[in-house]
Parts: sequence; structure tokens; C-alpha cells
Amino acid sequence: MTLTGAGKIAAVVGWPIRHSLSPVLHGYWLDELKVDGALVPLAVPREDFARTVLALRLAGFMGVNVTVPHKEAAFALAHVTDAAAEMAGAANLLIFHADGRIEGRNTDAVGLRESLRQEMGSLQGKTVLLLGAGGAARGALLALNELGAAQVHILNRHADKAAMLARALQPAVQGKLLPESLGHWRRMAGDADLVVNTTSAGMKGHAPLELDLAALRNGATVLDIVYNPLQTELLKQAKVRGLKTIDGLGMLMHQAAPSFEAFFGVRPNVTPGLRAHLEKALHA
Ligand code: ATR
Repeated sequence: MTLTGAGKIAAVVGWPIRHSLSPVLHGYWLDELKVDGALVPLAVPREDFARTVLALRLAGFMGVNVTVPHKEAAFALAHVTDAAAEMAGAANLLIFHADGRIEGRNTDAVGLRESLRQEMGSLQGKTVLLLGAGGAARGALLALNELGAAQVHILNRHADKAAMLARALQPAVQGKLLPESLGHWRRMAGDADLVVNTTSAGMKGHAPLELDLAALRNGATVLDIVYNPLQTELLKQAKVRGLKTIDGLGMLMHQAAPSFEAFFGVRPNVTPGLRAHLEKALHA
């Protein structure tokens, strides 16, 4: 079955979904590239995820973007998955193929990699402090590895989780992974060329991380993958400290580009115009 009277249709599925920027982001590209299509937000509780995806496939959707809390379920549902999804055990993109197969991909790592590449170029020889050891940290490790990071200190509130993540991913990455307790921040901070926050601290409704940024070197860069708010406490403090900062919008825009291409068949560009459009939507 295919949808009639409309171009290509895709969805973004999450719970909650109200604050997702995906419809705004894809809407901008659809207008810019004059593509006849739409990406609709769908609020879907955990227990309805699988049947909703299957129903959307039957209804002729091109695929779905998947956000919290469904990324692991999306991975489990896919018939084929890419290496990034395998590594993360999670998929943020499901593509419905004409033969009925559902392909699961994870574009989060690509998004972070491209955002970092744009701002910093290569990470060859660099030391990174990665804050957090959850799913987002896992994706970030892949991105850091692809950019050539020499060593990554994984700092987590619960140090055992950092150790588990380092053990699991060390065989797959070139650089050295060094797990630590977040409590040891001050001791490690002076080594860092780059700090990447992947914890949920600092997100709207969550308390910010309490870190003393005075311990960082003058040339260090601080990146926060959180984009709501765009200027997290961490980034504000880094700016006050005179450090280069990278906000979460870059990663968001770059992770969406492969989704757009998969759904609508055109490769979009990440431009200052898109950023301005998203900033306006975030402030609205
Ligand atoms: P995600 O998949 O988005 O990474 P997650 O798996 O729930 O989500 O991981 C959340 C991460 O944020 C964890 O590393 C968590 O630290 P713990 O493993 O020690 O719980 C971290 N985190 C959340 N709130 C935090 C806070 N207030 N301070 C420090 N770390 C925090």
C-alpha cells in the first residue's frame, strides 16, 4: 500500500515527542530543496512502538527517526543494521525498503563526528575527556575514534560503568581508553584538549554538572551534546573562562542529514541558515 495525494512521508517517533526539533529540521530542508514530502511527529509509548513501526511501514512511510526511549527497541526490530548501530546496540533511524526489510542505522556518531570535524578538524594526538558512560558516550567514542583521538579519559559518576564501557570498546578503537570517576575531574582536566559532555546533566529540567573549569588549559574546547537549552551552564562557564565551545545543534543537524537523504532521496546541506532557523524554533 502507498499513500496517495502526498509526496514521501516519514515520521519521528518518541515519548514524549513535543520538543523534538526533527520536524522543523526536515521541514526546512523540504522547503529549501523543494521536495514534496513531510516528516510527522508521533508520540508513541513503549508498549506501542513495534506495532506502530510496522503499521507505518504498511501505510507506505519511507521510514522513521527514532528518539528516546525507543532506540534499543528500534535496533531489535531491524532486519539489518549498520556497524554504528551494532556498536551502540541502538538505532535512531529505521528505513523501510521496498522488499519489506527494515534497515536500522545509528547516525548519532556521524553527527558528532561531523560537528567536531567542522569545528576542530582532526583529533590526531589529542587528549579528550568524555563525561558520561551511557548510550550517548558509546556513540561519542566511535566519533572520537574516527577523528583519531589519541586517548580518551572516560569520566563517569559511577566509575564502574566507565570501566565497563572502556573494556567493551577498547578492542574496537585505536586510541587509549582510560576510565575514571567523575570525582577525579580536577586531576585529569589539565591534560584535555577537548571535553565532551554526554551526560544528561544540564538538559532542561536536570541540574547542571558542578565542574571547576579553572583546571582546564587555555586552548581547550568544550562540547555539550545537549541542545535544549543551547547554552548549557557548562558552555556558559566555558565561555566565561575564555574557552572555545561547541553546542549540541551541530550534532543534531549532522545526524539528521543521512536520515533526510534516506527518506527523501536528496542529500541536504548543514548551513548557517538552518542553524538560525533551529535557534529561532528553540527560542519560540
Ligand atoms: P544516554 O543513553 O543518553 O547516554 P544513560 O544511558 O541514561 O543515557 O546515561 C546517562 C549518563 O549521564 C550516565 O553516564 C550518567 O551517569 P551514571 O552512570 O553515573 O548514572 C550521567 N549522569 C546523569 N545525571 C548526572 C549527573 N547529575 N551528574 C553526573 N552524571 C550524570
